[in-house]
Amino acid sequence: MATRAYDNRLTWPIEPDADPHSHGAKAPFVDNGCGPLSPDRYFSTEWMEAERKLLWPKVWNWAARAEDMPDPGDFVLFEIGRESFVVVRGEDMRLRAFFNICPHRGNRLVSTETGSLVNGFTCPFHSWKFGLDGGNTHVTDRETFRPEALCRDLNLQEVRCETWEGFVFINMDANARPLLEHVGVLAEHAVPYRLADMRIMRRMQAVWESNWKVGLDGFNEAYHVHAIHPQILGIFNDYHAQIDCYPNGMTRMTTKFAHESPRIGSGGLNADLRWAMQDVGLDPDSFAGRMEDVRPAVQKAKRARAEALGLDWSGFTDNQLTDDWNYCLFPNMHMGLHPEGVSLLYFRPHAHDPRKFILDVIVMMHPQKDSAIKPPAYMGLPDGWDISGNERAETIVVDWREGGLGQLFDQDSSLFREVQLGVESAGFAGAILSEQEQRIGHFHAELERYLGLRA
Ligand code: FES
Ligand SMILES: [Fe+2]
Repeated sequence: MATRAYDNRLTWPIEPDADPHSHGAKAPFVDNGCGPLSPDRYFSTEWMEAERKLLWPKVWNWAARAEDMPDPGDFVLFEIGRESFVVVRGEDMRLRAFFNICPHRGNRLVSTETGSLVNGFTCPFHSWKFGLDGGNTHVTDRETFRPEALCRDLNLQEVRCETWEGFVFINMDANARPLLEHVGVLAEHAVPYRLADMRIMRRMQAVWESNWKVGLDGFNEAYHVHAIHPQILGIFNDYHAQIDCYPNGMTRMTTKFAHESPRIGSGGLNADLRWAMQDVGLDPDSFAGRMEDVRPAVQKAKRARAEALGLDWSGFTDNQLTDDWNYCLFPNMHMGLHPEGVSLLYFRPHAHDPRKFILDVIVMMHPQKDSAIKPPAYMGLPDGWDISGNERAETIVVDWREGGLGQLFDQDSSLFREVQLGVESAGFAGAILSEQEQRIGHFHAELERYLGLRA
């Protein structure tokens, strides 16, 4: 199946001759070992609590999109584990984030996903009031408090809030590195996609029955695709992937679409490749090339179509037009970047149960009047979906057992439940990692550093 001896330091570069400073360059190999990963991280309450104390309060957590808060007083609620935050735009147009907690007796201040607080915050319990900058503006029946009770901090507790490409992140750690530093090379790699101008077109959410890291690990490799998602092998080269490990726990995997898997190895124009050609206006019947020629032909056709539509795709290499450039921003944000749109997966721990997590399956696109440009089919956006970007896409909550996230996700959700059951067995000694699973090793090494388990 391989076309040369496998080299784990190289994996399978998509652009072997890429300029070392360009987005396509293979990052230097990082040796994180090959396991075993201790099984308890996937189910024990101790691990969940360690993450609650040492991970989530220290990392940049994606909380909102800036476009959802255009005016002063507009807010978005964000929850992670047992914590709740409100991100709000101030009179000065600055975005600030606060614990969603009233300093009086701890009531939650807001309870809706979004809203507008034209007059600032009023606590629903005893009506204390706070400005959009978090400052206390009113204590009900102030004369009934002793002075020493009110000399404590009566303001909302602010946390750090920084924005990258329209993604608003919060961080509970005052000493954390700046967000942009955390985003690292992705900040530069993402420039041609103009993520700040994209909009969330669909946001689906489900509670899956596994630890959040079982879910994340599953999406950090394509090794399982042949077994669980064989329906895409005709159009997806699951094997020859470029894998990159970056500082601060970030990883990337680049996989080729419009190229069949070597596991099939037919070498001809299978039905899915024919569909991919027709999708960009190519006629498979008159195509003289071989299977390997389909991807370049599709790239060329896509570029021509974009030019005809007046889209500026000059910043993209040909490979970015067909392939999945998939980044995992540590710890839990997955982004499959395509010129047409982004598949964003967000893995959040369950508040109390280490055997469950909350998955958001998000499709982002540039707003369009018609559907001339479609996101890649694997994202599962139904035909005719509103991609005007005029309305905020409300979160659609689904039950994983009933499906609804799209075929690929539905296949994963049932599988991950079985993995969750298996990793708890006394007969399981810990995950053994192949070099196709380097991203998993890199993620867990960074996680272990946060938890003080690794230097
Ligand atoms: S808890 Fe908020 S005013 Fe009392
Ligand atoms: Fe999968």
